[in-house]
Amino acid sequence: MDIQIVRAAFKARFNTEGAVYASPGRINLIGEHTDYNGGFVFPGAVDKGMVAEIKPNGLNIVRAYAIDIDPADGEANYVEFGLKEEDKPKEHWACYVFGVCRELQKRGVEVKGFDTAFAGDVPLGAGMSSSAALESTFAFALNEIYSGNIDKFELAKVGQMTEHNYCGCNCGIMDQFASVFGKEGCLIRLDCRSMEFEYFPFNPKGYKLVLVNTCVKHMLGDEYNQRRKSCENVVAALKPKYPNIETLRDVTYDMLEEAKPLVSEIDYRRAHYVLGEKDRVLAVCYALEKGDYETVGQKMYETHWGMSKEYGVSCEELDFLAVLAKECGVTGCRVMGGGFGGCTINLVKDELYDNFVAKAKAEFTKMFGHAPLVYDVVIGNGSRRIA
Ligand code: GLA
Repeated sequence: MDIQIVRAAFKARFNTEGAVYASPGRINLIGEHTDYNGGFVFPGAVDKGMVAEIKPNGLNIVRAYAIDIDPADGEANYVEFGLKEEDKPKEHWACYVFGVCRELQKRGVEVKGFDTAFAGDVPLGAGMSSSAALESTFAFALNEIYSGNIDKFELAKVGQMTEHNYCGCNCGIMDQFASVFGKEGCLIRLDCRSMEFEYFPFNPKGYKLVLVNTCVKHMLGDEYNQRRKSCENVVAALKPKYPNIETLRDVTYDMLEEAKPLVSEIDYRRAHYVLGEKDRVLAVCYALEKGDYETVGQKMYETHWGMSKEYGVSCEELDFLAVLAKECGVTGCRVMGGGFGGCTINLVKDELYDNFVAKAKAEFTKMFGHAPLVYDVVIGNGSRRIA
């Protein structure tokens, strides 16, 4: 992200200079829709993210300028709002900033009025968590600027609760966690029940990780929340018999069969996917430790088709790319993030990379009338002050 764009825009609008903070988007190798089920995830931060310049303005209002928003698309790119619960702005992008302020206040941080301009290079709605990058940037920055004493875990929660309470998505903790805790060259294996995590150096010799963006934009909301509800329904159905279970993490295949007559066919199918995904993350960790990338890739494909056929969060364009990847000999390919559009993540042998990328661009364009975007993954650092 070019920090100069943000600095110039801030200076032009507010005629002063503030502190500059950045937070990344994320990838996730495997472990999708497991976070809110108490399972494992395997994300890493990317070298793309959000950059915000911020300076307290001595007022009780926030003056926020979203450089990337084009007012011609229907939303103002400059918004002023107060810091009380009833001051929630109507612009969707501004709700993220507002929500972070409110969640910090709820945790005792005395956030006051400030000026900010921000921009990012994580593609929006591509499944790379542009929203978490935005939340983490402001959570990290405002905690520092207003001398809050909030640790990094809680900063990730501030972002997650912003989504729940102000943006309509009951997401898990993965994205905000990865954005805050990211470390160059490392994936992070996170146990979303105990919140224990481990950095995992990731540099597979002879392979590249590449994202192919369908450019089908999604905004996670109702559809996502319904998936989460299905998982909770299965847990609720089993609770009378197994009072100690809290999430699908605690549910076995045998238990799921017991729940089958008690829940809808859709809920059953979705929970079945989650149980498989729990096992796949651990299988991938084990395979990575042995350098067995063939198994890693095979599990990625299994995840893709589980997300498509069982969990119901893929789309035609993503399925097309998964089939094409297989035909091109790509080791692993799957839809990444919440789904409903966005990117596939691909583990590709170096020697197959050029052919795969060329084919994906040509065939996808022929089929859908627009070209996909391709990004090589570089695993970068988490939230930080940069100027
Ligand atoms: C979105 C959510 C995450 C996670 C993924 C799916 O990115 O924000 O919490 O649930 O979807 O793995």
